Amino acid sequence: MTSVLTRPDTIGDRTPTRRHYVMCPPTHFAIEYAINPWMRPGTPVDRELALAQWDALRRTYLDLGHEVTVVEPEPGLPDMVYAANAATVVGGRVYGARFRYPQRAAEAELYRKALVEVGTYTEPTFVNEGEGDFLVAGDVVLAGTGFRTEPRAHAEAARVLRRPVIGLELVDPRYYHLDTAMAVLSGHDVAYLPEAFSPRSRGVLAGRYPDAVLASPADAAVLGLNAVSDGRHVVLPAAAAGLAAALRDRGYEPVGVDLSELLKGGGGPKCCTLEVRA
Ligand code: ARG
Repeated sequence: MTSVLTRPDTIGDRTPTRRHYVMCPPTHFAIEYAINPWMRPGTPVDRELALAQWDALRRTYLDLGHEVTVVEPEPGLPDMVYAANAATVVGGRVYGARFRYPQRAAEAELYRKALVEVGTYTEPTFVNEGEGDFLVAGDVVLAGTGFRTEPRAHAEAARVLRRPVIGLELVDPRYYHLDTAMAVLSGHDVAYLPEAFSPRSRGVLAGRYPDAVLASPADAAVLGLNAVSDGRHVVLPAAAAGLAAALRDRGYEPVGVDLSELLKGGGGPKCCTLEVRA
C-alpha cells in the first residue's frame, strides 16, 4: 500500500501555504523587439488592459492570502513586468539574474535594489534568467537551459542556493524558459509538456515524476504551464481548460486568469511573479 509519507502529493490534502511574491506593473509594457517567437514588434498593446489584467492577478494573490511586494517599473524596459526573470530566491538567499539579451540587461540592477531587502543577494557570473529557468520543487531546483540560461549558471545556482540542481534541456523555441514548459504544483508534483524537452531530459523527468501531469500541446500553446501554485490553488491562464480539468482531478483548485496582453510578450501569470522563499 502506498503511504501518505512516501506519496504526499498524489494523495495529499493539498494544504496551501502563504506565499510572498514580487511583481512589477506593465506601466511601460510594449512589444518593441523580438527575443522570443511570441513577440512581433509593432503588435499593438492595450496598456490599460494590460494594467487591469496584471492588477487582477495581483488581487487574485491577495484574495488567496498571499503577500505581494510591488517593484517600481522603469521607462524603456518594456519587459520588466516579467518579474520571475529577475532572480531565484530560496532560504533567504537571492541568486540574481543576468539577462541573455541587452534589451533586458538593465532590469537586473533595478530588481537587485528591491531584492537586497528580502535576502542575501549574490551577483551572478553566468547568464541566467531567474525563475524563468529555475523552478524550486521541494528540496531541489529544476533548471532549464537551451535558450536563455547557460548550463554553467546551473552549477552557480547550486552553490549559491545550496540546493541540488537538476538540469533540463529545452528544445522548442516557443517554450524558451522552463516556466513556459513546466509548472511546479507542490513539492513533488509537477506538470509539463514532454515535447518541449530533449529525449534525455524527458527520461530524467519521467524517472523523477512518474505521476506528473502531462500537458497537451494545446494547453501549453496558451502558456497554461506558466502557472503559480501555493500547494492547493493553481493560478493559470483561463484558456488552459484541459490542464485545469486535470488539476481539479488531482485535488487542486485551478484559478483561471486572463493575461492576453502580456501573452503578446511571451509571458503568463508565472512570468509576472517572482516568489520570495524565506
Ligand atoms: N518578453 C520576455 C522575454 O522574452 C518574456 C519573459 C517571460 N518570462 C518568463 N518567466 N517566462 O524575455
